[in-house]
Amino acid sequence: MDKNSPIGVFDSGVGGSSIWQEIHKLLPFENIIYLADSKNAPYGNKSQKEITALSIKNVEKLQELGCKIIVVACNTATTNAISILRENYDIPFIGIEPAIKPAALKTTSKSIGILATKGTLSSALFSRTTSELTKDISVVEIIGEGLVPLIEAGNLDGPEMVELLEKHTKPMIDANIDYLVLGCSHYPYIIPQLKKILPENVKIIDSGEAVARQTKIVLQSLNLLREENTKPKLQFFTNAETDTLKFLLNEYADKISVEKKDF
Ligand code: DGL
Repeated sequence: MDKNSPIGVFDSGVGGSSIWQEIHKLLPFENIIYLADSKNAPYGNKSQKEITALSIKNVEKLQELGCKIIVVACNTATTNAISILRENYDIPFIGIEPAIKPAALKTTSKSIGILATKGTLSSALFSRTTSELTKDISVVEIIGEGLVPLIEAGNLDGPEMVELLEKHTKPMIDANIDYLVLGCSHYPYIIPQLKKILPENVKIIDSGEAVARQTKIVLQSLNLLREENTKPKLQFFTNAETDTLKFLLNEYADKISVEKKDF
């Protein structure tokens, strides 16, 4: 594998671009190819079998495009499919899981909230990690029903979003949480909306920076980090409309390409 080969990133849709931003910030010289499987979003309500089949399709596309490492920028795909991916493909994988550990260690109210998809919350990997890390605290797990389709549509600020967020956070506020863990890579895009609804003492944690750090560590250990001071190629492919990706990545408009592609 070549140092100049791209990092491959995929998600069920536009959400993983929040993780892409962290990777690009930490590794600004790396070439990156991002696949947004928006045609099949949301993954969150699908079966493990369906999520695995879609993840395999995305992995094979990224391998065909010559990627040196694959970042599964989707909690639902990671918690349901990453062990199968690791068993079947000879390429390093980085996954993303809800950042329960820092929240469990730091909470003083001994109550934390987790907002994620049904697929993540019902996965064996999630249940195992959560029960190991949260023995002496209470955890309010809420399925973020309806949020991903709104984010996919670029509808971050409408009354539907406010209504859904009020509904999903109410049981957490009632349980006096002081940390909210975002367990879906789409949700960092609605942090400003969440902040308006949550009490001021509630801190929001997501996993983007940790995933970027882990990607760097693994590339470094494999001697696959690209040379510095060379301009990177930053490509986005979506199998649906390009509008939402362009809107969410507006600040990078002059350095990225966003194209529609079948995969
Ligand atoms: N962005 C994904 C995640 O991190 C999945 C959203 C979905 O497709 O339901 O879980």
